[in-house]
Amino acid sequence: MCGIVGYEGTREACDILIEALSRLEYRGYDSAGIALLGQGTIHIERRKGKVEELRKIVSGAALKGSIGLAHTRWATHGVPSERNAHPHRAGDVVVVHNGIIENYLALKQRLKRAGHVFMSDTDTEVIPHLIADYAEKGRNFTDSVRLALKDLKGSWAIGVLKESERTLVAAKNQSPLIVGIGDGEYFIASDIPAIINRTDRFIFLEDNDMAIFRGRDMRLTNVDGEEVVREVRQVRWTTAMAEKGGYSHFMLKEIFEQSRAISDTLLGRAREEEGEVEFEGVDLPDLAGIRKIWMVACGTSHHACMIGRHMIETNLRIPVETDLASEFRYRDPIVSPGDLFISVSQSGETADTIAAMRDARSRGARTLSICNVLGSTLAREADSVVFTHAGPEIGVASTKAFTTQIAVMFLLMLFIGRKLGTFGCRDVRERLREIRAIPRKVQSVLDTTRSIEAAAERYMSFRNFLFLGRGINFPTALEGALKLKEISYIHAEAYAAGEMKHGPIALIDESMPVVCVSPADRTYKKTCGNMEEVMARKGNIILISDDETHEMAARAAQVIVVPRTIYELQPILSMVPLQLFAYHIANLLGTDVDQPRNLAKSVTVE
Ligand code: AGP
Repeated sequence: MCGIVGYEGTREACDILIEALSRLEYRGYDSAGIALLGQGTIHIERRKGKVEELRKIVSGAALKGSIGLAHTRWATHGVPSERNAHPHRAGDVVVVHNGIIENYLALKQRLKRAGHVFMSDTDTEVIPHLIADYAEKGRNFTDSVRLALKDLKGSWAIGVLKESERTLVAAKNQSPLIVGIGDGEYFIASDIPAIINRTDRFIFLEDNDMAIFRGRDMRLTNVDGEEVVREVRQVRWTTAMAEKGGYSHFMLKEIFEQSRAISDTLLGRAREEEGEVEFEGVDLPDLAGIRKIWMVACGTSHHACMIGRHMIETNLRIPVETDLASEFRYRDPIVSPGDLFISVSQSGETADTIAAMRDARSRGARTLSICNVLGSTLAREADSVVFTHAGPEIGVASTKAFTTQIAVMFLLMLFIGRKLGTFGCRDVRERLREIRAIPRKVQSVLDTTRSIEAAAERYMSFRNFLFLGRGINFPTALEGALKLKEISYIHAEAYAAGEMKHGPIALIDESMPVVCVSPADRTYKKTCGNMEEVMARKGNIILISDDETHEMAARAAQVIVVPRTIYELQPILSMVPLQLFAYHIANLLGTDVDQPRNLAKSVTVE
């Protein structure tokens, strides 16, 4: 996610802002910028790259001003570059923004018709132009901001300056923004770590709040201009604690961000009213006559591909072949011209996946990437790209990237289904309602983390685990096993449940817990049979299901019940407890959860 900081007070703002910005670097970003209001003019500096580059520029320029904004950008619209870096300006209005403006294209066209000239590819740039447009029509500064916000759809945390006004305005909707209260000075920031060294008194703005800072005066209103009252809270965190938002590890923070990450991934794309899916700014290749889809990736992303295959084959009846990217090229794959090759990658820099995509393209395939990082190699080289808007994933073990990849694949399946006429608007509307309910259902699983931690305590001393799943639950079992092994170093392997009789059953005894992913779906009966076989050999079962009345529940050693949803989306809900189970075991064992031994966040070598 982008990072915002702002200052209004009596001291020189430049160093305060740069230092605050450097405290947000952990969030991940690709460019940075600063705006300072000096003697009636706003000076802006922006750089692609690190905050340190920006610091060198501004310290050399000895920029003056006791009110200003600064920003680190995590690109969502428009590749990482100086021209796309924030702050963005329109006339004498300057804005920094974190979030996604869903209706930016329509607003941009409206503003262009009114004579506004845009300098970037970002969604953000419509905000200063909207504010300037209202100001040109005679509205005062804060009313211009209010009216502009009412035109926006999507998520935002913004800071706004105007040259003729010694006033800083902040506003929030869905993206986080906090106010720090100093002694005769105010701060705004995306996150506590930015300003934890300046104050311990904070206001956590709520959706549709606005904060107006003028001299020693701060006013809080809603977008209708009505005064609001917000509690001032004292937060005594160390910087290290603050970077993780109070969580003990980035991985835990990212597990808990999944509701928000999935909501952000749906933003602007899931159009329930129209019964449509839109991928704004994405020109998917012509899908008519498509004969085969490939889904290729590594690790967790490969497990997501396996789930995507179930979605597409069972609903669209288009053959899908999945493969490990590291294997794909060594089998001389039979890729036909016109096949759609989908590469999936959180980092967009995995060497094997990049190589596989290049190989597929050389054989005539059309390429589409599902990525989490704008400007990454896979995002740039594919014919089309659809981004997961999970925000930076810092923990090496992938969590929110996985569940947002599944969400994107579901939307893609609906999108292709509409294009091919397989789905009518009503079909899409019904399925979109299901995925809209997922963030809330994910949150209800996250709320059970204490009971999952208790289960982890009971199982942390076992040295071997077997994970079983059938159908769409098999990749979920694979992902659960990968999570456990890569952060706890406990041996964990996953098998298709039906395959257990062909070997792994020889391993079953009381020393090897068996995690069974068994929702009440089309695989239920057969998986119950597998569980009977495990229990007949003294194996103890950890059951993950959406069915409290599961016929194996009474005999399982541990039962974790998750909310029910449709077949294609159940893996998201089954996965959250498995992520927490792996996390808590590793945390109890004291391994390096965020940077497990021997692992890299992005495997950029083959
Ligand atoms: C998953 O937890 C691991 N970090 C690893 O398997 C990862 O999924 C794999 O390296 C692929 O990375 P990518 O999604 O960035 O391509």
